[in-house]
This record gives sequence, C-alpha cells and structure tokens, in this order.
Amino acid sequence: MRPFSKKALKEGDVMMGTQVARVVECKNPAFVVGDYYVAQSGWTTHFISNGKELRTLPSNWPESLPKSLALGAVGYPGVTAYVGLKQICEPKPGEVLLVNSAAGAVGTIVGQIAKIRSCKVVGSTGSDEKVAYLKEIGFDEAFNYKSVTSLDEALKKASPEGYDCYFEHVGGKFADAALQQMKDFGRIAVCGCISSYNDSTPQTGPYIQPLILFKQLRMEGFLISHYEDKPIYEEAQKQLLEWILQGKVKYHEHITNGFENMPSGFIGMLNGQNTGKAIIKA
Ligand SMILES: NC(=O)c1ccc[n+]([C@@H]2O[C@H](COP(=O)([O-])OP(=O)(O)OC[C@H]3O[C@@H](n4cnc5c(N)ncnc54)[C@H](OP(=O)(O)O)[C@@H]3O)[C@@H](O)[C@H]2O)c1
Repeated sequence: MRPFSKKALKEGDVMMGTQVARVVECKNPAFVVGDYYVAQSGWTTHFISNGKELRTLPSNWPESLPKSLALGAVGYPGVTAYVGLKQICEPKPGEVLLVNSAAGAVGTIVGQIAKIRSCKVVGSTGSDEKVAYLKEIGFDEAFNYKSVTSLDEALKKASPEGYDCYFEHVGGKFADAALQQMKDFGRIAVCGCISSYNDSTPQTGPYIQPLILFKQLRMEGFLISHYEDKPIYEEAQKQLLEWILQGKVKYHEHITNGFENMPSGFIGMLNGQNTGKAIIKA
C-alpha cells in the first residue's frame, strides 16, 4: 500500500485498502443484507458496489474464527505466503528457509507453512518480544536484526550451512548480507522491499549479478494481485483455513480500534508496532 499509494494517489484521493464489509442496504437480488464480503474499497466507512468486485468469504467460514482473518492469515497476506512458497521457493523437507519481517502478516505464515513442509526456519524481526513470538509458533531460530552486532554473524549462527530459500520482505542491507549466505541453487522469492518504501532516491548497494551467477540462484518477484483470479488463490485460502482449524497455523492480529485511527495504525505497522496482521476495527 505504501509504494502504490506514493505512486498513484494525490492528496484528497481515497487511500487504497481492503476491508471485510457488511451489506447494509441492497437493491441487487444476488446479495443479502447482513452478509459479509471482502472488498477493495479503500479507507471508507461506507461504499456503493455494483457487486462485481466483491469476494465472498471462503465457504463454510467457521463461526469460531474472526472474519478479519479474511484480511490476514486467510486473505491477501496468507495467500501471498502460500503462493510465494509454492511457486518460487519450492522448499523441500530438510531445507533451510530464511524470512525477514518474519513476525508480520506474511512472514508468520511463511514460516509456519515451511515448518509444515519439514524445513528448518529462520526468522528475522525487529524486537525481542517478536523473537519470542516466532519461537512460540515454531520457528527454529529467530533474531532481532535491530540489536545484533553483525547481520552476517547472526545469519551464520542461525544456519552455519547457509540457506536454500529466502523469502524477501525487506531488501537493502539485509538482502546484501542474506544473499552472501545462500547455498548454490537457492531460490529467492522477492515479496517486498520495505526498507526502500520511503526512499526518495533509489538505494545503491552491492551489485548482485555475480552472486546470482556463481551460486546459480533463482530470484523472482511476484505480486499477489496477479494470482487473484487464478485457481491457486482459492486453493490457498482453503488450505490455510484447514491448517488454522487443525492448529497447524497460528495467527495473531494487531487490532487498532476506530476508523479515525487508520492513519496511525498504518504508520505504526510501517514502524514495526504490529505482530501478525495489522487490522483496523471500525
Ligand atoms: N508481493 C505481494 O503481493 C505482497 C503482498 C503483501 C505484502 N507484501 C510485502 O510483504 C512485506 C510484509 O508485508 P506485511 O503486510 O506482512 O507487513 P508486516 O510484516 O505485517 O508489517 C511490516 C513490518 O515490516 C517491518 N519493517 C518496517 N520497516 C523495516 C525496515 N526498514 N527494515 C526491516 N523491516 C522493516 C516491521 O517489522 P520489524 O519489527 O520486523 O521491523 C513491520 O512490522 C512488505 O514488504 C509488503 O510490501 C507483498
């Protein structure tokens, strides 16, 4: 949202965003007042829809689960984790996976799916409390990238043999250090590069082509919007819902109450205040 809004929005436009919305009034017989849909309607308390861009919640949504999970572990972030792992990282049992921004909406799900796939999982995050949370949900190793004296040493200590898969959320100096420690034929899913989203001039850094060539790495960027109408989207939602109900995937929501607190909730997320998915309850 941050890089896209910087590019596409001007002052006065509605901020982009996804919500779980309830039908309050309806002239379309295909919809029922009181039902819930996932809508890309932006930061609005109410909106009018022609019904075409509303996504239904996965069928048989259990009453025991909050519907806000359709924005988190069973929504865009969860599906992003599933797709990036399945299409790009393709982790095999026994392989080592690294994910940064690991305690966030996508990262927590990436790590847990990789554990289900019998990988060793290493996560990096920005506080000791989040490190403890990652251990609690099954990460093998986790470290606080803000307090370690050397990223290289922290990465080596967590996995002396290097990394087969790297689920990239941060970019910048973290990526420079992590790429050095990829094993030959490693796979890198470039999901985000949050360290650069506020930059007004592009970051410069080590040029990575020699590393990619001599380690024979595969590095691929992906945007989940590309998969929205593909069968893998529903496959992912169904699988994630099942894993959550089986207790194999745990979720955490960082809830900010009040529509008027959306900007501070959003900025707080960018500053790392959230564990799991940042949600605004309005
Ligand atoms: N490709 C796609 O389609 C797609 C879809 C969804 C999300 N994404 C991307 O995936 C990444 C994670 O998204 P999310 O929604 O799951 O957010 P999130 O991880 O829940 O929240 C963002 C986290 O980024 C970390 N962070 C902020 N600035 C940082 C910096 N300079 N260096 C390192 N970490 C920093 C903070 O955690 P710490 O405490 O760890 O610093 C913060 O909590 C983002 O880059 C996002 O753009 C991509």
